[in-house]
Amino acid sequence: MLQDSLSHMSMTEEKQKKKKKRKKKLSNPSQDFLFHEKRTYHASGLMKIRRLCKFCDVQATSCTGKGWCKVDCEITSICPHADDVCVSIWRRKDDNITFDTVCHNPAQTLYGLVLDDYNNSKCEMKEIKGMGSDFFICSCSEDECNENILFNPNSHVVAVILVSLVPLLVMAVIVITSFYFYRVYRQRQAHSRRKKGAPLDCESRAIITDDEGSDSSSTHANNLNHNTELLPIELDVLVGKGRFAEVYKAKLKQGSSVSEEQGFETVAVKIFSYEEYASWKNEKDIFSDADLRHDNVLHFLTAEERKLQRQYWLITAFQPQGNLQEYLSHHVISWHDLWLLGWSLAQGVAHLHSDRTLCGRQKVAIAHRDIKSSNILVKSNLTCCLCDFGLALRLDSSLSVDELANSGQVGTARYMAPEVLESRINLENIESFKQADVYSMALVLWEIISRCSAIGEVKEYEPPFGNLRENPCVESMKDSVLRDRGRPEIPNSWINHTGIQMVCSSIEECWDHDPEARVTAQCVAERFDCMEYLDKLSERSDSEEKIPEEIFVVDEK
Ligand code: ADE
Repeated sequence: MLQDSLSHMSMTEEKQKKKKKRKKKLSNPSQDFLFHEKRTYHASGLMKIRRLCKFCDVQATSCTGKGWCKVDCEITSICPHADDVCVSIWRRKDDNITFDTVCHNPAQTLYGLVLDDYNNSKCEMKEIKGMGSDFFICSCSEDECNENILFNPNSHVVAVILVSLVPLLVMAVIVITSFYFYRVYRQRQAHSRRKKGAPLDCESRAIITDDEGSDSSSTHANNLNHNTELLPIELDVLVGKGRFAEVYKAKLKQGSSVSEEQGFETVAVKIFSYEEYASWKNEKDIFSDADLRHDNVLHFLTAEERKLQRQYWLITAFQPQGNLQEYLSHHVISWHDLWLLGWSLAQGVAHLHSDRTLCGRQKVAIAHRDIKSSNILVKSNLTCCLCDFGLALRLDSSLSVDELANSGQVGTARYMAPEVLESRINLENIESFKQADVYSMALVLWEIISRCSAIGEVKEYEPPFGNLRENPCVESMKDSVLRDRGRPEIPNSWINHTGIQMVCSSIEECWDHDPEARVTAQCVAERFDCMEYLDKLSERSDSEEKIPEEIFVVDEK
């Protein structure tokens, strides 16, 4: 740093002295060119080379005091003293801009300033305040180094850094923007595929899993809204009331991460009171397994604790068609609708029971334990999705003895398998829980057929065992299902239709008294796959049967 010094010599005095010295030197012009004359012998005996510097004293300049400037000085002088260094001074007073170029011994002050940068090889200007004008000075120790001057070396460094960083920044912005648009594009694709009802394949599952955590096989805690900030949700109407909770249609306000990422605006909110914590916790834990995701399982968004209201919430997709029981109560369906509903139900249950994901990865099998038409929602493409996992059980090695001991009799009595009704489920074998689900699924398939126009006359909707009172107790169900070995009636008229006949034989296998004799949900789903084709055959055979009649009519004419 150049500092004010002790010297009180006026600037003009000092300048005049320098001028005299310079004139002396220039009186012998050969000085500029004879190298040996640059040598000075010190008392120490060491030879020191005298410096060559630009030496024009004060000269007007067009240099504006920014960046690099070249002084407009034709004169290069050998400095008079061996210790002299080259100095340049830039000054601006009003419109008058000048450069001073001189030799100077840094041991002495110059205009009251100590030169502390004279060891530099380049002349880098520093501003000195309080000199009565804009004043910049630099010194350096290489021949003619005071010719090319750099102003604001720091700003130069900043400029260099900026110049080198700008391409990197531009690249980063391009990469981030492209990545962002790619993600938006993939999400839109996945969303529109889901909207169209296209199956959630291995790849699109991976996208969803990706969004929700990198470890797709594990419980993805992301779905518990850990943020202290709760989702901006406005409750609308009550759409369902269960044993443990109420379900509301609700509006997820735009701008929330969930509404943007997953495209949800209307959601369903299942509200549990604090007393029903266990039920909320169980359902949340079941839903939090990313591997549960399937087209035929209700799409879960997040779980929240609403401390203010002393409530627990589960936020899921909203299915405007409501549950299957309501749907069947208000609609008579075609064979195609029956096939879609039945096939998708079997697919959903098979996925739940499976220990493999669609991609073939290992997953934990889950038993629903409360399959019934009011726990199945109807999607807009008329496929089913399973909901209400409050009683569901993860069939993995982490099942505690307590959980097993308490798992003897759960569910809704009307839909309970015989072994569940008599609390004789084989707790040693996890397949028993799946077999009980398959029994309940058979009753739902029966309900679906009962409302299909292909069976002939369609009666008002009735639940299975509809002759019993509204919520039959376990004892009444035992009488019907165990003592009387009763099952819902399959009238003869139902089996006139080839497809329905096949569904009915599957139903009978699914509600077999012996759990071991029941077919799996996967097997039922595969049979449905074949039935779609069989129905076409049956349609063809129907029309083939009609052909002779038509020909006959034509012949009569
Ligand atoms: N009833 C229960 N859950 C529902 C949901 N997610 N959408 C519509 N109705 C429901």
